[in-house]
Amino acid sequence: NANGLKAGKTRNIIEKMEESSKNCVILYGSQTGTAEDYASRLAKEGKSRYGLETMVADLEDYDYDNLDEISSDKIVMFVLATYGEGEPTDNAVDFYEFITGDDVAFSQSADPPLGNLNYVAFGLGNNTYEHYNSMVRNVNKALQKLGAHRIGDAGEGDDGAGTMEEDFLAWKDPMWAALAEKMGLEEREAVYEPIFGIVEREGLTKDSAEVYLGEPNKMHLEGTAKGPFNAHNPYIAPIVESKELFSVKDRNCLHMEVDISGSNLTYQTGDHIAIWPTNAGQEVDLFLSILGLDSKKDTVISVKALEPTAKVPFPTPTTYDAIIRYHLEICAPVSRQFLGTLAAFAPDDATKAEMAKLGSDKDYFQDKISKNHYNIARTLSVVSSGKKWENVPFSAFIEGLTKLQPRYYSISSSSLVQPKKIAITAVVENQLIPGRADPFKGVATNYLLALKQKQNGDPNPEPFGLTYEILGPRNKYDGIHVPVHVRHSNFKLPSDPSKPVILIGPGTGVAPFRGFVQERAKQAQSGENVGPTLLFFGCRKRNEDFMYESEWEECQKALGDKFELITAFSREGPKKVYVQHRLKERAQEVNELLEKKAYIYVCGDAANMAREVNTVLAQIISEKRGIPEAKAEDVVKNMRASNQYQEDVWS
Ligand code: FAD
Ligand code: 2AM
Repeated sequence: NANGLKAGKTRNIIEKMEESSKNCVILYGSQTGTAEDYASRLAKEGKSRYGLETMVADLEDYDYDNLDEISSDKIVMFVLATYGEGEPTDNAVDFYEFITGDDVAFSQSADPPLGNLNYVAFGLGNNTYEHYNSMVRNVNKALQKLGAHRIGDAGEGDDGAGTMEEDFLAWKDPMWAALAEKMGLEEREAVYEPIFGIVEREGLTKDSAEVYLGEPNKMHLEGTAKGPFNAHNPYIAPIVESKELFSVKDRNCLHMEVDISGSNLTYQTGDHIAIWPTNAGQEVDLFLSILGLDSKKDTVISVKALEPTAKVPFPTPTTYDAIIRYHLEICAPVSRQFLGTLAAFAPDDATKAEMAKLGSDKDYFQDKISKNHYNIARTLSVVSSGKKWENVPFSAFIEGLTKLQPRYYSISSSSLVQPKKIAITAVVENQLIPGRADPFKGVATNYLLALKQKQNGDPNPEPFGLTYEILGPRNKYDGIHVPVHVRHSNFKLPSDPSKPVILIGPGTGVAPFRGFVQERAKQAQSGENVGPTLLFFGCRKRNEDFMYESEWEECQKALGDKFELITAFSREGPKKVYVQHRLKERAQEVNELLEKKAYIYVCGDAANMAREVNTVLAQIISEKRGIPEAKAEDVVKNMRASNQYQEDVWS
């Protein structure tokens, strides 16, 4: 099936390990690919440095009731990301429920059940969220309770502090040392051993019908794409509307609508839409060029897993160009460990020495690479002063780079108002980097910007505008399309519309609230009793980035005194004014509404805004109810636990 798990393949992890002679399995729970990546890196390192027979496994592909039968000469590694509000990632939901369940049923009934299990654990989290790394913490607790033996510390990486990679690197070395001691492993000089083999397909050209040129799977290749559309199978949706929401020249915020009526996709107000992006032509060219692959870009290749447990992350036969353009995250931050791997293939000794230095010196790496937002091709180019890296096996990039990930957006329309059209509100990532000539540009949002420009026939006015191959050379779609799928969320209006709601969403955080307010306006128009609806919105200046201004006026007409828009323009006066300041000014009313069981929603920036709103809310409750702040914080916690307080935040 689409998960890469072929029909008839075993879900028995022990059987799988035995049939492929493995003694170490790395199980991952991953949402955006980072945990999966780290799992692969542990597998490679375990094999090359310690001679472990490693395999990587998606938690969703196996059953866990025989974890108690894994013998003590084997090792199980867990690499677990925490998603959103302390939730497991989609692929880890079943495992999480199983292992943390009240009466976990294993195949044997030994006491303790997991007394033979040796494991290591690393978690990926974000400290700006309330439940930091709760997935690895809770799984670790559950495993301990079941009698399993952890080797080394349970590591925690923090995306919020931007230290994920460094946290991982700092955790893994002591873990390997502890594991080597426990299992009597000897360290050896690591040599690169490919997991994937690349075969050039001489009989095929890029015009051959069986060659993938960006199509995500066989149905798409054969032009018979059908649902279910999901994270493994996108719907190629027509863009039916696209416009600019800002009135300043140097920043862009897009409003786009896609039509899902040709699919069986459905959505509910508050859900997320995933956009499957394409890498910019300029970045693809740079990548091809620094590897010396320009003249081979259309050579047809097949990629084969050299070991039975590895999965090729995209369909083949395909071309180098298609892999780089549609399947690899080539623009992402560079992994310091990966530079260490590539050092062995440097074009000359000076470059090799420089790579080794970057690989081992965290501060040097920060100064030369991270600070400039260089991606892998730019890094290689800078380090070798433009000399080609022709000796690196291409498989190293397939193994070392994440696969290109869809980006999520809070749907900014109401499914009650327009069930078959999904709106997106996305601010375009475009940052000036001191010391770098061209700005840093985000992958998906600049792709969307280009789609909008193409659809509207806009000229590309700026010198660093990016170009894209839209849906590849076989694109036969009429009009502009974008691959999407829908992810259902728990961010939902109360089922009873008469309940008051307080919505707090500065910037693009307003996206889901456009849907919420549209929905309540429609309910009011249909004669339903709609409760008070307070929307706190913030932006820089009224005449620059006040999005949807005229739409709010329309909603006002429909909802009358049931709707109030409260604005915070942060850059109009001498002092910054933010949504939480406005919230405080309205403390009396906010507290009264909360006492009437108003639902409160916060969307947008997780790093600062959501946290500060939480703090201000506790202050309001403390002040207005005359209770100590610590008590008020508990009130807020309880509101979260009962879903009276909901967040849809990202960083
Ligand atoms: P990317 O290329 O993914 O870059 C994103 C950031 O990563 C950069 O700003 C930079 O900080 C870092 N980065 C990337 N590459 C490098 C590098 N080489 N070196 C250093 N740093 C780097 N956004 C909206 O605009 N509207 C929404 O409604 C919305 N809703 C969301 C809902 C959810 C649940 C989530 C998880 C996110 C949401 N986002 C939303 C954010 C959105 O998913 C994207 O993250 C955002 O649009 C940027 O995507 P991009 O591909 O353009 O940027
Ligand atoms: P600023 O950029 O002027 O600081 C949307 O991005 C709006 O959110 C802008 O007006 C921005 O203001 C504001 N903003 C920035 N940091 C914030 C924070 N910590 N809390 C609330 N709003 C914030």
